[in-house]
Amino acid sequence: MQITTEDIKVISRLVHDLCGIVLDESKGYLIESRLSRVANEAGCETFSELYYKTRYKQNPAIEKKIIDAITTNETLFFRDTSPFEALQFKVLPEMIDEKANSRNPKRLRLWSAACSTGQEPYSLAMTLAELIPDIHSWDVNILATDISSTAIAQASRGTFEKLEIQRGMKPTFLAKYFDQTEGTYRVKDQLRSLIRFQQINLLQPFVGMGPFDIVFCRNVAIYFSAEARKDLFERITQLLTPSGCLFVGSSESLLDLGSRFTPHRHCRAVFYRPRMAQTAPC
Ligand SMILES: C[S@@+](CC[C@H](N)C(=O)[O-])C[C@H]1O[C@@H](n2cnc3c(N)ncnc32)[C@H](O)[C@@H]1O
Repeated sequence: MQITTEDIKVISRLVHDLCGIVLDESKGYLIESRLSRVANEAGCETFSELYYKTRYKQNPAIEKKIIDAITTNETLFFRDTSPFEALQFKVLPEMIDEKANSRNPKRLRLWSAACSTGQEPYSLAMTLAELIPDIHSWDVNILATDISSTAIAQASRGTFEKLEIQRGMKPTFLAKYFDQTEGTYRVKDQLRSLIRFQQINLLQPFVGMGPFDIVFCRNVAIYFSAEARKDLFERITQLLTPSGCLFVGSSESLLDLGSRFTPHRHCRAVFYRPRMAQTAPC
């Protein structure tokens, strides 16, 4: 299916409104390659027909297919390694010590925002389980969310192909946390039970969520406009506990967003803590 300049404009606007992803005029090839099939399946002969059908006929099934096709679900276990090392050797031990005298010393809330097919939340779960041997007597929950219902369904199944496992999984963890059946690997129920999966669009208000001790929001805001990105990280910060931490992707930085975000370093990892409003001296 051939795409026109006008098609690029309207489809880009539609994609932006659906999921915040910004596609400029140079992305015609991407729309063509990823959405031709969706258009065909919807019985559309042109992209503008797909636009009108989706925009004015309120068609959730087509919307879902557009989101699934246009989002980039690239991910792997323990992506970038250093954030998980920072968690294991610095953030979690300090947090657990700090919580020791609180009302809920064994309560931990994590959020893997834009978790794709689940490698990130399962990596978080394994990191926690390694550090806290009696994790199942703790009150731990990892919320794993993504806009793509297909990605979330796969994440929730917890079943991975050999190729996916080969990307980042340590053999000792594979043996400890997965069952192998007919060439696929399934996360053991005990580990899976630490995670709750939910479809969430990061552009929409976060209702009834948080507070979180740790949020991973990596490799998603790079696709958003500058305003949507700033708004997203500010809303996430409001969901963090006072000593909470936010991890972004290795190519991302929050330094341009002002003093709300204080960077902290551990080896090669950078994470951010919210700077609380200063209280007036008495
Ligand atoms: C490149 S993956 C990143 C996965 C994982 N965080 C990582 O770093 O490995 C980006 C994910 O963001 C999701 N996504 C894109 N727009 C979104 C939105 N508006 N709300 C929630 N998730 C979104 C996509 O579906 C995709 O699974």
